[in-house]
Amino acid sequence: MQIPPLKMINQPNKSFPPKLFLILLLLGGFIAFSYIGTYTYTSRYTTIHSSVPISQPRFQFKCFQELKNLGSWIRPPSTLWHEMNDTELFWRASFVPKIEGYPFKRTPKIAFMFLTRGPLPMAPLWEKFFKGYDNLYSIYIHSLPSYRPKFQRSSPFYGRQIPSQVAEWGMMSMCDAERRLLANALLDFSNEYFVLLSEACIPIRNFTTVYNYITGSLYSFMGSFDEPGPFGRGRYSFKMWPLIKRSQWRKGSQWFEINRQLAVDVIKDSKYYSTFEKFCRGDCYVDEHYFPTMLTMQSPHQLANRSLTWVDWSRGGPHPATFGPYDLRDGFFDRIVFGGKNTCAYNDGRTDLCYLFARKFAPGALDRLMENSFDFFGF
Ligand SMILES: *[C@@H]1O[C@H](CO)[C@@H](O)[C@H](O)[C@H]1NC(C)=O
Ligand SMILES: *[C@@H]1O[C@H](CO)[C@@H](O)[C@H](O)[C@H]1NC(C)=O
Ligand SMILES: *[C@@H]1O[C@H](CO)[C@@H](O)[C@H](O)[C@H]1NC(C)=O
Repeated sequence: MQIPPLKMINQPNKSFPPKLFLILLLLGGFIAFSYIGTYTYTSRYTTIHSSVPISQPRFQFKCFQELKNLGSWIRPPSTLWHEMNDTELFWRASFVPKIEGYPFKRTPKIAFMFLTRGPLPMAPLWEKFFKGYDNLYSIYIHSLPSYRPKFQRSSPFYGRQIPSQVAEWGMMSMCDAERRLLANALLDFSNEYFVLLSEACIPIRNFTTVYNYITGSLYSFMGSFDEPGPFGRGRYSFKMWPLIKRSQWRKGSQWFEINRQLAVDVIKDSKYYSTFEKFCRGDCYVDEHYFPTMLTMQSPHQLANRSLTWVDWSRGGPHPATFGPYDLRDGFFDRIVFGGKNTCAYNDGRTDLCYLFARKFAPGALDRLMENSFDFFGF
């Protein structure tokens, strides 16, 4: 590799002194390098206009910028797009400081993670909900990899899609998608709480109520219960023994809220992962069991064992009820929001306010929700 340039220098043109040639070469190289350096520098600090994969230059001469001060470590990444695969991403996302506290002012943020197939029909309602609280939340969207969102630049959803893969209900690929959302959200050091939502979810309280409820809670809202019968313990396989005993088997809705420590626990796990992947297939519906069982075994005292997302299973069948505009008559949300006096546990006490989010709502319900959002939800 070294021979060609040496040859070039050793065989100088008479009318072109070798030293001058070398100087010109160095000068040219310097100009080229500083150009690339400026390019990467600017591209890092300007907003990326879309969430389609953007090929970044391979050579990045920005080490000096990165190490100059703490800011570069705690600033969220300027673009959510990256070329890490899951192994690389989870490794990077599992970095945890070993010193307690932060040597800078840290305002904990809530990461709202949307697990969707394609469009987010309820986005206008969410935009209304988020308005005015920019430094207290961040948004992440996992959708089918082929889906290209069309959000306005002014929307908080703009450019918030993460590198995604196909995820199927009831399969491990669904848990992978949830872990991918967590891992991407963990890259922002300010994210302290992680909420998983679907495209059919809506917020049913205003932002301040949601923020205070979540940040003020001693427990993470992961649904987790021991259900006898075919749809609970019946899905347990004795092949999981002795790692998981039948009495340790848990079920819970996948729509969770967990704190940063539990989020790291979820993405770093390989022990339970391989067992669930091997033995919880098909009718087992791994996305209803893997996180609740693992977290209940590892950190039972950090869990509220209930979800913050209301859903109506009362009609029976494998899918919960979906609500359209005509379902949303007077009092519909009052019944959800206040399920009755002191019905729910909160910080070892009781509260009327059980849920902050609800599903499932059909796209056709949006107009009615938008028109009445203040009456219904107070925003
Ligand atoms: C990611 O890339 C690394 C390095 O090439 C490789 O060892 C690892 O198996 C890859 N992981 C996945 C999930 O493809
Ligand atoms: C949010 O809702 C709560 C309870 O309904 C209310 O007390 C509070 O004033 C509302 N906050 C804002 C900023 O509207
Ligand atoms: C949640 O359940 C676990 C055991 O399954 C229990 O140890 C824990 O105390 C429960 N959490 C609350 C807030 O009651």
